[in-house]
Amino acid sequence: MARLSFLSALLLVGFTSALGVRHRQDGYRDGYGYGSQDGGRNCVNFTIPVSISARQGVFPDIPAKANLEVTDFAQKFVQQGRNYTATILLGYQTVEGNYDISAQYCYPDKVGSTIQILTHGIGFDKTYWDLSFDDYEYSYTNVALKYGYSTLAIDRLGIGNSSHGDPINEIQAPLELEALNAVTTKLRKGEIPEIKDEYKKVIHVGHSFGSVLSYWLSALYPDNTDGLALTGWSANGSFIGQTVAGWNLHSARLNQPFRFGDASNGAIKLLIESFLGLGRQDLVESVVNAIKTYTGNTPQSYEVWNDIQTTEVGDIINEWNTTATRLNYSPGYITHSDLTSNQFVFLRYGNYDIGLGVVSENTKQPVTIGELLSLGGEPAQSSFKGPVIVFTGQYDQPFCGLDCYATGTAAASIPAEAKKNFPKGGVFEAYIQPDTGHGINVHFNSSAGNAAAYSRVLDTTPDFILVFAREYALGWNTCTR
Ligand SMILES: *[C@@H]1O[C@H](CO)[C@@H](O)[C@H](O)[C@H]1NC(C)=O
Ligand SMILES: *[C@@H]1O[C@H](CO)[C@@H](O)[C@H](O)[C@H]1NC(C)=O
Ligand SMILES: *[C@@H]1O[C@H](CO)[C@@H](O)[C@H](O)[C@H]1NC(C)=O
Ligand SMILES: *[C@@H]1O[C@H](CO)[C@@H](O)[C@H](O)[C@H]1NC(C)=O
Ligand SMILES: *[C@@H]1O[C@H](CO)[C@@H](O)[C@H](O)[C@H]1NC(C)=O
Ligand SMILES: *[C@@H]1O[C@H](CO)[C@@H](O)[C@H](O)[C@H]1NC(C)=O
Repeated sequence: MARLSFLSALLLVGFTSALGVRHRQDGYRDGYGYGSQDGGRNCVNFTIPVSISARQGVFPDIPAKANLEVTDFAQKFVQQGRNYTATILLGYQTVEGNYDISAQYCYPDKVGSTIQILTHGIGFDKTYWDLSFDDYEYSYTNVALKYGYSTLAIDRLGIGNSSHGDPINEIQAPLELEALNAVTTKLRKGEIPEIKDEYKKVIHVGHSFGSVLSYWLSALYPDNTDGLALTGWSANGSFIGQTVAGWNLHSARLNQPFRFGDASNGAIKLLIESFLGLGRQDLVESVVNAIKTYTGNTPQSYEVWNDIQTTEVGDIINEWNTTATRLNYSPGYITHSDLTSNQFVFLRYGNYDIGLGVVSENTKQPVTIGELLSLGGEPAQSSFKGPVIVFTGQYDQPFCGLDCYATGTAAASIPAEAKKNFPKGGVFEAYIQPDTGHGINVHFNSSAGNAAAYSRVLDTTPDFILVFAREYALGWNTCTR
């Protein structure tokens, strides 16, 4: 495994993909990854307007401007022996509105009959499915394209380039579910003008909270999906306290002031400028130079690494002095504090490229207080009759408590216990990927040459599972490092 040198870590600060794209009339192609070697890669970005409404909880104002207030919320949320949502719930209301959902549509040169709607989890945006790191070697999208699938990856409502909203009483799971359902319906009816191809089947592929929403959609609107691939998921909600504690949640605006916030820029800018002087492009380098200047010693790269990139200092200087989009999240959008808390929940140490870990920290997305309060509101069962595959990393924290095999029952794994959630379901498969944490796509072994384990599935199940299995099982990011 290639550990990043300090220099490479330096280069990753503020890293955004500089890979070129060649434009053509209806999208763009790029020259990287499987897609171009095989069936082609054509992608186009656009927003999908949706008019939606959802009945969801009304909560009091929860102070979250300051980091210590966010900690107070986290303590109350994880307090043992009670359901904090129920404790503070004031009632229910119908929230309705018009929103924009940011989407990336990708299709192979020869368009097939099935499209996958990709819904990311907490901490990520739609780029989770198309990581550009190492020339797109970790791109799920490219492998889907390779096998003839089209993909529509969305930023969940409230996150990334989709419409933001009130983080307590608006951006909650039920409204996000309605947005996902509305996108699905528009796609099926041919009402997304940028998508000219017609598809016979629409598969919902989720990761983590995106899997919760995909599952939820199958329960409320079972006719609107043809298959579920729920990655980084189980039906066991017991580990969420561990997750919220491990995240060490901070206000997003304060955590990455240049990328997430703006009000705090002034103070942080002054601080950085007074310490480092103007004109420095690279703050990590600046800190190294400052240490040299003030102490006369050159710091060891591991010291710099540990003090900056694995701590919140790395987050605070992220996107400093660049032209990055200011996401301008309001208070109530909160985020895990740094790469260490990122690893705690999402990553298995030794099984991911630290450089990609840094990228995932620098490009992370927040979670809203309303999302946390509405997690767990999904129906206990889904009447969906179609095929379901669950694909979860062996050391998944949020859905397995760091060990998917520790069931304490006869069940093969914690994700396997979700079969009971689909009493009318067709084919159900739960697969545990070895040496992988929750953020599956970020790991070396996000796929691994595991065709054998799926041969039975390949023989007996509908088309989509076949290809889903292939995507994860063949060739994609196999563990050669
Ligand atoms: C489309 O959006 C993705 C992020 O999802 C970005 O990496 C890519 O550069 C965008 N492409 C174009 C042509 O704007
Ligand atoms: C907590 O309470 C909320 C609101 O009453 C409810 O929707 C949710 O299902 C409860 N969660 C658990 C785990 O019991
Ligand atoms: C959001 O939009 C910005 C500006 O157009 C773009 O640089 C970025 O890649 C987009 N991100 C996502 C996740 O779509
Ligand atoms: C930001 O970058 C510009 C352009 O490279 C440079 O002129 C300016 O001095 C930098 N400002 C700071 C505060 O680093
Ligand atoms: C969740 O998993 C743990 C550990 O296997 C188990 O003790 C617990 O009963 C499970 N809870 C539910 C609701 O299935
Ligand atoms: C990767 O996963 C495969 C199964 O897909 C497993 O056989 C192998 O042991 C794992 N290897 C590593 C190095 O994680």
